Amino acid sequence: MTRIFSGVKPTGHLTLGNYLGAVRRWAQSDQHRADALFCIVDLHALTVEHDPARVRRLSRQAATLLLAAGLDPEVCTVFVQSHVDEHTRLSYVLECTATDGEMRRMVQYKEKAALEQRRGGSVRLSLLTYPVLMAADILAYGTDEVPVGDDQAQHVELTRDLAVRFNQRYGHTFVVPKAVHPPVAARVMNLQDPGSKMGKSDDVSSGIVYLLDEPDVVRRKVLRAVTDSGREVEYDRQAKPGVANLLEILAACTGQEPGALAGRYDSYGALKKDTAEAVVELLRPLQARHAELCADPGYVDGVLRAGAERARGLARPRVDAAYRGVGLLLPG
Ligand code: TYM
Repeated sequence: MTRIFSGVKPTGHLTLGNYLGAVRRWAQSDQHRADALFCIVDLHALTVEHDPARVRRLSRQAATLLLAAGLDPEVCTVFVQSHVDEHTRLSYVLECTATDGEMRRMVQYKEKAALEQRRGGSVRLSLLTYPVLMAADILAYGTDEVPVGDDQAQHVELTRDLAVRFNQRYGHTFVVPKAVHPPVAARVMNLQDPGSKMGKSDDVSSGIVYLLDEPDVVRRKVLRAVTDSGREVEYDRQAKPGVANLLEILAACTGQEPGALAGRYDSYGALKKDTAEAVVELLRPLQARHAELCADPGYVDGVLRAGAERARGLARPRVDAAYRGVGLLLPG
């Protein structure tokens, strides 16, 4: 059976980008067609300046939202990264396979390191080695497919390179995984800055729709989205990135083609209004389920406990094999 692994980082409240780019497909398709594991990657949240209490809160919130989005613990595995030691065990061994140059070429590293410096902070070593931990997340489970938004493509490429290199040097140990991206909304852009990705830890939150935003907040953010010069509603990412982003969001919410939708609108205002309502309707059931789950934190804890136990059992033999492969003496 195909094995799927993916993750979400608790560095901020989950966004419409996370949902359309990843989580929705995990719930609607991936968990039903494969043996799927979905992970709250809390260790990755420590790679930038963070508030410990907030990371803990956001980890629980992300887990609750994944369940609210429809992940069913009866058919898939939902767990927290730091509950399964195998990730950090394997990460170190993979650091001994990766090179410094490879890490420094990662676009997200360059962007995030520059941002930390602009904010007056220093760059943590773990930010540089972040992609190796991510590779460990994926490779520990013999993952075939990694369903992610476009922004993670380079990290999954690196994971493939490390798997191939490790297998060549130390004998076949890892499955070489591939990234899979959604057909639309693989990169939802910030409504106030359609040249940049809608990221959960961005500074300007007026351009970010959070999954738990109240309907009126969603409407306000979408109606105030930056659009482009001219008046024609056209689907052209280069010439009209703001309008194209709205069309893609509307298309992803309604299951239609962005190009076909463009022909139906003769004003930006009408497009914004329909997009706002489509997003409100998309989020309504998820928010209702989230509220129900919040009333039962014991249930979420139980799901995470069982998820970690299953994940540990799956990862352990492959991580042990990697240890043996590189020459470590396992305890007898
Ligand atoms: P993270 O937490 O930034 O995002 C979680 C998922 O949401 C997707 N995504 C988007 N998709 C479309 N438009 C957007 N604006 C948008 N923003 C985010 C991301 O592509 C991702 O699929 N490094 C990962 C977490 C991770 C991981 C892993 C993922 C750690 N280990 C192993 C897969 C497998 C990250 O920061 O995702």
